[in-house]
Amino acid sequence: MTNNDVPVRDSFSGKVGVIAAAAGSAVGLGNIWRFPYVAGENGGGAFLLIYLGFIFAIGFPVMLAELTIGRRAQRNALGSFKKLAPGKPWYLIGLMGIVAAFMILAFYSTIAGWTLEYLVQAFTNGFSGQDAMQLKESFEVFQSGSFRPLLWQLVFMFLTAFIIYRGVKRGIEKYTKILMPVLVFLIIIICIRSLTLDGAGEGLEFLFKPDFSKITWPVILDALGQAAFSLSIGMGTLITYGSYIKKDTNLPTTALQVTVADTSIAILAGVMIFPAVFAFNIDPAEGFGLVFIVLPNIFEQMAGGYFFAIIFFTLLSIAALTSTVSVLEVVVAYFSEELNMSRRKATIIAASAITLVGVFATLSFGPLSDALILGKTVFGWFDYLSANILLPLGAIFIVLFVGWYLGKKAVADEITNQGELKGRLLNVFLVIVKFIAPIAITLVFIYGLGLIG
Ligand code: TRP
Repeated sequence: MTNNDVPVRDSFSGKVGVIAAAAGSAVGLGNIWRFPYVAGENGGGAFLLIYLGFIFAIGFPVMLAELTIGRRAQRNALGSFKKLAPGKPWYLIGLMGIVAAFMILAFYSTIAGWTLEYLVQAFTNGFSGQDAMQLKESFEVFQSGSFRPLLWQLVFMFLTAFIIYRGVKRGIEKYTKILMPVLVFLIIIICIRSLTLDGAGEGLEFLFKPDFSKITWPVILDALGQAAFSLSIGMGTLITYGSYIKKDTNLPTTALQVTVADTSIAILAGVMIFPAVFAFNIDPAEGFGLVFIVLPNIFEQMAGGYFFAIIFFTLLSIAALTSTVSVLEVVVAYFSEELNMSRRKATIIAASAITLVGVFATLSFGPLSDALILGKTVFGWFDYLSANILLPLGAIFIVLFVGWYLGKKAVADEITNQGELKGRLLNVFLVIVKFIAPIAITLVFIYGLGLIG
């Protein structure tokens, strides 16, 4: 079942490929770097609960909504809206997604670059013989430099562009399928070490024992932003990937599996990090550098830590790569389908432009660290704006589009594969996308930003 009006589009080879690619997008630095640092800043347990609530009540339906739009339209994030709602302003959602993609990739590639630096350090045994203080110091020296962080960012963007250039099936799918399970296995091993450190219990308590006095509206907004960021929703990544999904793939099951996998890995990352945070007397609210300071400490205390460190940072870089690829694909699919560029030209232009913006994010930790705008660096703003503003906004309009514009028939068709699946929860889904999700996100938004109250 192909559409006649579109040239032959690349597609995922089948069910496993779809899940691997979508999970590859969702699982990344968002789980292993961002989740622990945001949870740490927001007091742990209660944040985790609210985050989980958002993941399942809102994140999962939004993910399904995006896949629905993409597979229905068989186009890129912007073209999908143009095709399904010709002559209407809905395509602006897609445009916002392209902006978000630029911003996310610009700062994400900074952190992805750090993982490469740490991989090299792991190889050359750079952590050995350093205590917690020294490891923190060497991190700060590295991150505040210019040359090395920029070099690694460039390398990372190059790798991302290379995979995108090779296309969906051969590029994205192939690597994700094998490497994700290995990463999970390794995280579990590191969790075990972290949990057996002296004083680990305090970390578990921090992560799992909710202290509701820590909850304020900005914390709730952070939880929503983190949920959206981690699931890769609100920006058109999953519209774009949805457009490569075949007609016989079960969308609700796919979305649910990806959601569960992504969330489990975030929680595992928390279990890996927080016991060690307390065991090594590190401040959980350390911020952007948290995992980079904590992990080497764990490796130092592990039998075979040298090898584990190498494998871990290799896999973390790859997890980051399958995510950056999914962000760049949004822009490249748009450039090539809507602006009629060759895939190659689209890749080069998009990747170069984003790298250029990304330089400012990377230098935010060094030469530009004093260039604060309302208390945040350029990096801080990219991170905050994309996760807490653009993604929730995108999510609101995506669910409104599916709930109110697309129509029940079209939605039912995609959810049930033209009536082949039962679609028992179709009505629940429709209530969520029509009412619950848009209202809930709007409220969190208004209060979280302090627009009211
Ligand atoms: N979810 C990815 C992570 O957790 C990052 C990512 C990929 C993303 N594509 C996205 C975030 C689209 C927001 C929107 O690392």
